[in-house]
Amino acid sequence: MTAARRIVIDTDPGLGEPGSDIDDGLAIALALRSPELTVEALTVVNGNVDVDTGVDVARRLTRRLGHPDLPVLRGADRPLLRDMAPLRALFDDVVGDRPAVPTAADDRLGPTSDLTAAAYLVERAAACPGGITVVAIGPLTNLALALRLDPGFAQNVAEIVMMAGSATGYAQNITVVGDFNAYVDPEALAMVLASGARLRMVGIDQTSRVRLTRDDAAALSRGDSFGRWAGECALAWIDFLARAFPLREEHRDACFLHDPLVVAAVLDPSLCTWADAHVATDTTSELARGLVVADRGLALAPPPGPPNASVAVDTDVPGFGHLFLDRLTGTPAGD
Ligand code: RIB
Ligand code: CA
Repeated sequence: MTAARRIVIDTDPGLGEPGSDIDDGLAIALALRSPELTVEALTVVNGNVDVDTGVDVARRLTRRLGHPDLPVLRGADRPLLRDMAPLRALFDDVVGDRPAVPTAADDRLGPTSDLTAAAYLVERAAACPGGITVVAIGPLTNLALALRLDPGFAQNVAEIVMMAGSATGYAQNITVVGDFNAYVDPEALAMVLASGARLRMVGIDQTSRVRLTRDDAAALSRGDSFGRWAGECALAWIDFLARAFPLREEHRDACFLHDPLVVAAVLDPSLCTWADAHVATDTTSELARGLVVADRGLALAPPPGPPNASVAVDTDVPGFGHLFLDRLTGTPAGD
């Protein structure tokens, strides 16, 4: 068996926080329960939740998963340029007032080190050139700050595999143009796309094809203590989405497993079909903010530039589903 791939997960985890996406937490659980991967640390970024809530969620999650000493680093508390307030308000408007965060601010668990997420990413990649893969499943702010701190990070990091944008079409997310991670910080995504780092992108066109149903949540609940808790959180999140988006049938009985697909694509790249593309994002307009275009040279005009990323253009949905439930519940799917 080849050596486990060393990864750092850059994340905006909300699992367990009422009214927040559960997918980062399930992605972290999948990574920690997959022998093909060695998770070296979690670096937390503002996104689904504010960064301090994200750090607290990450610390409690690693304890639940039996990795209490896993490094958890605090990263950016806001996007490079954009103001989070309107987006937080939109979430509150669109999905209704979030229930009070159960963890009072002074009860939160802090990071395991005073090192910032960007400094940690730079230091680890420089200490082990080509040895660390960053799985970026939140807004790309920490990665952009790491590039600002040390442009050599782009060459030192083995690969950045990110959940962002879309490659083949759009499934509506927080805005008409799509993915939340690109929308929150399009300037950060643009910096990563221009960095020269080895990039893979799994867009919302693919991640919205893999879903966790109420039956899947019940299967999780039949697992261990983490599974029982995660199953309850999943059902609560599906109920939340059904209330918040009553016109979207896909949220009546399921939620998307955006971030777990990215982790799965790292441990088994054959789960997706990949194509080289020139990927760019819009940072100039409000209407198309965070729009991602992955040009694979299929159009009449030549691509605006050479390929800068490998993008997922298809997904083995059943294969992912089996892997996900197998690893999360510890029982081969179909048992
Ligand atoms: O658009 C989906 C992405 O935004 C996922 O990473 C989800 O966790 C949110 O961060
Ligand atoms: Ca995320």
